[in-house]
Amino acid sequence: MTTAQAPDSPIGQAAGSATVPRHIAIIMDGNGRWAAQRKLPRAAGHRAGAEAVRKVLQAAADHGIEVLTLYAFSSENWRRSKEEIADLTGLMRFYLERELKTIEKEGVRLKLIGDYAAFGRDLAGQLERAVERTKANSRLTLVVALNYGSQAEIAAAARDLATAAVAGTIDPSTIDEKAIGDRLETAGLPPLDLLIRTSGEVRLSNFLLWQAAYAELLFTDTLWPDFDERALADALSRYASRQRRFGGR
Ligand code: IPE
Ligand code: IPE
Ligand code: MG
Repeated sequence: MTTAQAPDSPIGQAAGSATVPRHIAIIMDGNGRWAAQRKLPRAAGHRAGAEAVRKVLQAAADHGIEVLTLYAFSSENWRRSKEEIADLTGLMRFYLERELKTIEKEGVRLKLIGDYAAFGRDLAGQLERAVERTKANSRLTLVVALNYGSQAEIAAAARDLATAAVAGTIDPSTIDEKAIGDRLETAGLPPLDLLIRTSGEVRLSNFLLWQAAYAELLFTDTLWPDFDERALADALSRYASRQRRFGGR
């Protein structure tokens, strides 16, 4: 079925039964509660969460998912204690060091969204080197959202467009959904098909608000450290049973 929408608009995708999503995003929530249930420190929950990332990344590649976007740190997570933030950044460094070879070998391309420079030169440099080393890979794109906030991302796109309008390089009457989408950090990625949040919370917490316009939303009670290959397979089969309409019938 074809629609009158522009073909590159996410909303212009063909309606029908969903099959395998091209682009999945996950709000990886529940590390703290996983640790609390075991009377462990929160850091242990984050460590277990990093193991889940490893498994789910592998499983997503095996399922032929093109893009996996993971919410690793929100622009609001700075409200946490200094200790927890240090644990999280230390873990990112450790994970990247340990997993980069595998990521490269598995054909994964790393992409970053969010203002990751706020994590300091060391980690930012390490992240950028990993992006550089994996840029030619094409099996799966792993997008990691670090110090990411969707409202700030949209505001930056609006600022960009306003600046161009004032400079006279863009006619304000031509600013449409595509103009904004093209200025988001996710520009160039396939439309978001499936957004998963673990841990039973039912909110988006400032993640991919624009991009989720027509994504299928899936909320599961599973805590992120318990989310594994089977949980992903289950999410994919729930997705496949959805009827996507994009406003059609
Ligand atoms: C998600 O787990 C990890 C990050 C937000 C970085 P939480 O740390 O939010 O775990 P809960 O929600 O407290 O269980
Ligand atoms: C969202 O989880 C951010 C990440 C998973 C990185 P939070 O635990 O920070 O979200 P809230 O505070 O429960 O909304
Ligand atoms: Mg949480």
